[in-house]
Amino acid sequence: QIPSITLNNGVAIPQVGFGTFLVAEEDTQRVVESAFEAGYRHIDTAAGYYNEAGVGAAIKASGLAREDVFVTTKLRNGDQGYESTLAAFEASRAALDLDVVDLYLIHWPSPARGLYVETWRAFEKLLADGAVRAIGVSNFLPEHLTTLLESAEVVPAVNQIEVHPTFQHAATVAASRAAGLAIEAYSPLGRGADLESDVVAAIAAAHGATTAQVVLRWHLQQGTIVIPKSNNPERIAANLDLFGFELSAAEVALIDGLESGKSLGSDPATAEFSQFR
Ligand code: A2P
Repeated sequence: QIPSITLNNGVAIPQVGFGTFLVAEEDTQRVVESAFEAGYRHIDTAAGYYNEAGVGAAIKASGLAREDVFVTTKLRNGDQGYESTLAAFEASRAALDLDVVDLYLIHWPSPARGLYVETWRAFEKLLADGAVRAIGVSNFLPEHLTTLLESAEVVPAVNQIEVHPTFQHAATVAASRAAGLAIEAYSPLGRGADLESDVVAAIAAAHGATTAQVVLRWHLQQGTIVIPKSNNPERIAANLDLFGFELSAAEVALIDGLESGKSLGSDPATAEFSQFR
């Protein structure tokens, strides 16, 4: 049983999810079914990952009750705008073959388009209509959150951003939490690179845990939702086995000390990451 976090609208989200970025369409059903078998109940996809249909097929094939699975998807940048958001949502809902999506995110602020405030109004309508259980944002820097909150009627439930020991994104985490948003960390392992740290290795040895489990524990103990990614079945299972040990405050502080300020991803202020056009 994976602990849940209660979002600002009362909806519960499992604190560990399974990420599907770069999972090829033809592999997705099989990979997501194996994640369900390993015990994952929270799946994170996006229209821009082009694998929503595989996620939907895996949910059907799993035989799991709908209320036992939490599904997040995201709006592609090129679909921002009021009417285009509503149309894109219908396409995602059809691909996922779901009546209700648990969490819908604006994938990137794409500030050069100037459309995320208008887009958010469509998200609020989807929420009011009961098509989604929660709405949120992704890759929003403090300046984007400030602009959104000036006119938002619904405070986003989450901000899904890059967070890992060498890129803790502290200002964005703090601004998000202060406004009542939960943090979802993508690339929580620093795409695997943060597992090379001697500090992490020593803490892992002390607990008889893997380096990935230590880094994921560090996130969980801060109340962060994590979406680790792996193609390896043993690691997929191990990355969910996080509830048999606890890091001390001193160990958390040692990992806090790994900050390098180096992002591995795109800059949300300027990014038009082509995949998500
Ligand atoms: P692999 O797919 O071979 O397991 P992130 O979630 O930060 O994007 O990191 C994903 C990367 O971390 C992948 O390259 C993945 O490789 C690697 N990874 C995921 N889980 C583990 C683990 N438990 N031990 C070692 N490497 C891992």
